[in-house]
Amino acid sequence: MNKSPIILGIETSCDETAVSIIQDNESGIPKILSNIVSSQFEIHKEFGGVVPELAARSHVEKINLIAKKALDESGVTLERISAVAATSGPGLIICLSVGLNFAKSLASSLKVPFIGVNHLEGHALSPRLQTNINYPYLLLLISGGHSQFLSVNGLGSYTRLGTTIDDALGEAFDKTAKLLGIEFPGGPKLEKFAEKGDPNKFKLPKPIINKGGCNLSFAGLKTAILRITKYINSEQEKSDLAASFQKTIEEILCIKTKIAFKEFLKSSFKEKSFVVAGGVAANKGIRKKLIELSNENGFKTIFPDIKLCGDNAAMIALVGLEKYKIKKFDNMDLEASPRLALDKNAKFLKGAGVKL
Ligand code: KG4
Ligand code: ZN
Repeated sequence: MNKSPIILGIETSCDETAVSIIQDNESGIPKILSNIVSSQFEIHKEFGGVVPELAARSHVEKINLIAKKALDESGVTLERISAVAATSGPGLIICLSVGLNFAKSLASSLKVPFIGVNHLEGHALSPRLQTNINYPYLLLLISGGHSQFLSVNGLGSYTRLGTTIDDALGEAFDKTAKLLGIEFPGGPKLEKFAEKGDPNKFKLPKPIINKGGCNLSFAGLKTAILRITKYINSEQEKSDLAASFQKTIEEILCIKTKIAFKEFLKSSFKEKSFVVAGGVAANKGIRKKLIELSNENGFKTIFPDIKLCGDNAAMIALVGLEKYKIKKFDNMDLEASPRLALDKNAKFLKGAGVKL
């Protein structure tokens, strides 16, 4: 019987209740035995955004069931679990606490190690669920709460090259969708809506495009869209605006990624590997443009599978497995941290008056 370590991972940082079971593998790419994600779209839809108290309540109601489903699907018994890993931050504190407490109780009843995981590290390492990529690699992490360029140097070792100084890209997609009357969660729907529009109809701003290195800014776009939505009415014009937004984002990301390529290659010899992860990495237009740009610049691009781009627990179990192998366990008093970062030395770059 295969005795390699098996990790149960839990993710409850926002509006997905997710449990996954993965097993270490000689190939270096762990086997995903199960990966269950239960989204709360229906609960938050009528409010146009995630309501923390409702999200936490739903996690409490569902976590047992989702864990049981993940176990059943994996075909392993609880006794075979080597460690339990759960997201400890960043995220909504009352949501994080649900997964953390469940993980701690399960780990202590099974008498196995408990491991807290940085959600962003899950996204950062997610391509390693599919490919044997070497460190360091350049990462563009684009999600609902974060937008950063990072050099991923190894487990727990990150150098931030650029970050958003205001909104995250997923947030920009969601806010634009809301202004266009697209139902929550707007990001993925906006992309579809844009397909019917003329991307050259509206000229939108590209904030800090000629300054600030590979730092990003999206708040100005939202303001421009708000202004335009006041004088457009027809569905066609709305599609045109969505298409113009999608095109502007693609252009911003291409310009900033080119700068990030240079910054990444500045110090020492590196393989030219570029990973795009996080929920927004599911966007087909962004994928296409960034693959083209990477090819032109000799970079190999890796996008995790769509189901591994959005929040999931397989990426949490993966970080858990890497930590398990070096015996990096946590104590039961580990608390939820709503503001965990990847590069702890990076400067805080948010808000008015930021100097780039
Ligand atoms: O990584 P993720 O699932 O959760 C966070 O950690 O934030 O990312 C969710 C974000 C949301 O803002 C959602 O609208 C956006 O990713 N998103 C997309 C697409 N699919 C998800 N944005 C643009 N195009 C998509 N296809
Ligand atoms: Zn995420």
